[in-house]
Amino acid sequence: MSHHPRIAHAGLRAKIMSADAAAALIRHGDNVGMSGFTGAGYPKVIPQALARHIARQHEAGEPFRIGVWTGASTAPELDGALAQVGGIEMRLPYQSDPTCRQRINAGHMAYIDIHLSHVAQFVWFGFLGQLDTAVVEVAGILEDGRLIPSSSVGNNKTWLDQAQRVILEVNSWQPEGLEGMHDIYYGTQRPPARQPIPLTHTGDRIGEPYLRCDPQKVVAIVETHMPDRNSSFTPPDEASQRIAGHILEFLEHEVGKGRLPPGLLPLQSGVGNIANAVLSGLNQGRFEGLTAYTEVLQDGMLDMLKSGKLAFASATALSLSPAASEEFLAHLDFYRQRIVLRPQEISNHPEVIRRLGVIAMNGMIEADIYGNVNSTHVMGTRIMNGIGGSGDFARNAYLSIFMTPSTAKGGSVSCIVPMVSHVDHTEHDVQIVVTEQGLADLRGLSPRQRARVVIERCAHPDYRPALQDYLERAEALGRSGHGGGLHTPHLLDEALSWHARYERTGKM
Ligand code: COA
Repeated sequence: MSHHPRIAHAGLRAKIMSADAAAALIRHGDNVGMSGFTGAGYPKVIPQALARHIARQHEAGEPFRIGVWTGASTAPELDGALAQVGGIEMRLPYQSDPTCRQRINAGHMAYIDIHLSHVAQFVWFGFLGQLDTAVVEVAGILEDGRLIPSSSVGNNKTWLDQAQRVILEVNSWQPEGLEGMHDIYYGTQRPPARQPIPLTHTGDRIGEPYLRCDPQKVVAIVETHMPDRNSSFTPPDEASQRIAGHILEFLEHEVGKGRLPPGLLPLQSGVGNIANAVLSGLNQGRFEGLTAYTEVLQDGMLDMLKSGKLAFASATALSLSPAASEEFLAHLDFYRQRIVLRPQEISNHPEVIRRLGVIAMNGMIEADIYGNVNSTHVMGTRIMNGIGGSGDFARNAYLSIFMTPSTAKGGSVSCIVPMVSHVDHTEHDVQIVVTEQGLADLRGLSPRQRARVVIERCAHPDYRPALQDYLERAEALGRSGHGGGLHTPHLLDEALSWHARYERTGKM
């Protein structure tokens, strides 16, 4: 019996080494494609060994910085460790790490925030330069060298395919039973040879369960046994529950009107407190036979699969709390029949999202009265996380819903503003805005009609009069013939100073 039961390929077994030895193969200036999506399936020991290596180089007065490309957010062992030692020159696409955030906003680290569905094809097209090294966590290696993916797929197919060299981290903490849950599609071509993606139902399998990897490219294999970040969820707060209530009522209304089928359409939900509240509301509600076509499968969706409300879920990553992980492990055979994990270029593919008619529900920082949404920048300049998949889904969804509490920072900031301080989703991609105050359905409304509905339904009562007053004076300027227009009325100097007031006084 082999001492390395997860590594069945003899040639690759010969490449097993320590994390420090593997990290030393990465060079200053390399672009490194790392696995990892929302705290799942990221390499755990190699990035930490690399951070130590970088720190030593810096102590010796040698420059050492790399480009870090991932699926989406990872964990302190990867983003945190590398950012801490000043080892990241450029990061893409989505991150949510406090140290990265601090360094990006301090101007010490470059960050490119791109749609998650764009990353893989940007690499194939050569838009981002050469990918030097792939560092990918896997659950195991088959005798023929194919790889059993781990708890996320993300961009791994592309990293393994495009990188000059490959380093694998084989994590025996990842359940062996993950084998068979993935669907890796190798049919995507570059234009002009591109063909339709043959996926017409959330549960369709169009690829194969393993990642392909040329064993010749593998320069190191590191074994580990370490858990994913899987943080616990706090129970939904009151604002989240009220937001969820408004969305559920709206979906019922849409079914009543015949605009949605009784089992709804495939759901996409962002991560976090509000998304979990919506899912738990759906789990207790009357809809049956639901499906999900989303990025991340979190606790709420697992509960829904267990109860039977959710018949099937397609995602690119699992992001489960420790308690949910245990449930998942104990009933893996049940979940393997109901979950498929795909590359993120497929989980977030605009063509598929449009075809399936996804109901997209995403969080935001702020919305303006006309329906433009800022998902990424606090006060217009400081990055929070990134756009993630919200743009892939919002632009192509059957229904595009954005949600936030009506105020932030203890009530001193209104999340409904005259003009967003940064635009991620334009008024053309935003159909529903929801806060704990209520839900604004913007479909079929002109800008001025939208403004009234957003202010009345979504703004906090403390800010409603100021927003109402703004709109009325902007309309008056438009009527006066002194430069303002009445299609999307604005008082430009006031619109811009709305956020600046907070910077000066701590209150909008
Ligand atoms: N003005 C200033 N700060 C604001 C704000 C506003 N209008 N709205 C929120 N914030 C701050 C909060 O105070 C909080 O700051 P803190 O961490 O210092 O306390 C932070 O932003 C996060 O807000 P929170 O209320 O905790 O929201 P959240 O966890 O639901 O996250 C987003 C909201 C927008 C940051 C998050 O949904 C996101 O990153 N979205 C973009 C990516 C995405 O949509 N992914 C899903 C696609 S699958």
